[in-house]
Amino acid sequence: MLEGLTIGRHSVPFPIIQGGMGVRVSGFRLAGHVALSGGIGLIAAAGLGLGSEHYDGKNFFAADRQALLDELRKAYEIAPDGIIGVNCMVAVSNYDEVVRACCEGGAKLIVSGAGLPMTLPGLTADYPDVALVPIVSSVKAAELICRKWHKSYQRLPDAIVVEDPDTAGGHLGEKAERIGTGQYDQYGTVRGVKNYLKEKWKLEIPVIAAGGIWDRQDLQYALAQGADAVQMGTRFVVTEECDVDEAFKQAYLNCSKDDIGLIMSPAGLPGRALVANIDQVRQRDLDLDVRCPSACLKKCTYKTGQERFCIVHALDRAQRGDMDTGLIFCGSNAWKAERISTVKEVFEELFPLEERAAC
Ligand SMILES: Cc1cc2nc3c(=O)[nH]c(=O)nc-3n(C[C@H](O)[C@H](O)[C@H](O)COP(=O)(O)O)c2cc1C
Repeated sequence: MLEGLTIGRHSVPFPIIQGGMGVRVSGFRLAGHVALSGGIGLIAAAGLGLGSEHYDGKNFFAADRQALLDELRKAYEIAPDGIIGVNCMVAVSNYDEVVRACCEGGAKLIVSGAGLPMTLPGLTADYPDVALVPIVSSVKAAELICRKWHKSYQRLPDAIVVEDPDTAGGHLGEKAERIGTGQYDQYGTVRGVKNYLKEKWKLEIPVIAAGGIWDRQDLQYALAQGADAVQMGTRFVVTEECDVDEAFKQAYLNCSKDDIGLIMSPAGLPGRALVANIDQVRQRDLDLDVRCPSACLKKCTYKTGQERFCIVHALDRAQRGDMDTGLIFCGSNAWKAERISTVKEVFEELFPLEERAAC
């Protein structure tokens, strides 16, 4: 029997979140259409300002805020009654302002990872309806967050996303040398987080599995293994509504398993991406002697020592279709992409109409 998903005060008919994907991979269009189809749609906040009319080459943070407000407004134009949230990375310099802008712009939930979102409840205190959802890759991280939130803010998460570093796309919450070694147990972690919440806090909130979920079989497996819902990213890149350039989608369609690998981000975290052009990504910044343009990350090896490359611009270039020097993040399943479908078709495959009628 199909169950929906309730996070805080917000419910959707299907147990699925579309993962936030920056830079502008999940913008208003993708998030709006996922929300319209009955899932939770997430706009990724990272680097939004860069592609916006508000950016004049210098005002990165001001443009970021305005662009986020625009994206939320446009997403609600697509799905006025939908559940739309924002993915905010703890690692960005303007995290506090971005979180406040999410609340002002009407985000119904904030999903936050790439670091532990220890201060999130304080930043959203005036907006109690905004559901708060940390992303973790260990029971330990969930424990640290719950203890801090309870002690400092008398609040606990409304849901937790458990992201599998062995399969997810983008920045990963595990040391590079441990990824792919078989040491990580995704559904053991999901169940561990659930048990911890129940035993320590008597809390039954959705624990959501992210990473490596592509089709209905994967979804059913995740639910059977104890997840209450799934968060999917890579699959939604190859939809008509995804906010990236067609060349980015084609890169997924054309890739094979061997093209997918790990890169070291200047943020100090490993990331999963199409790795063939990684030397060119770096070389471009060296050739042009690019200096850190906006100090977008709290900690960045490019900012401090021009080590690696400027990640926000590398992701921005990929979003615009520069497949030579753009950084193309992807999950381990990108090679499975065979065609571009609509968001509606993805939902119909994941949640067949017969099953819906039976509910
Ligand atoms: C292109 C791309 C960009 C991503 N950007 C972000 C991001 O900005 N913030 C974040 O928390 N996760 C990001 N992720 C992770 C996804 O939100 C999601 O949790 C993960 O990819 C799930 O695994 P899957 O892609 O196998 O479905 C990104 C993933 C991809 C593929």
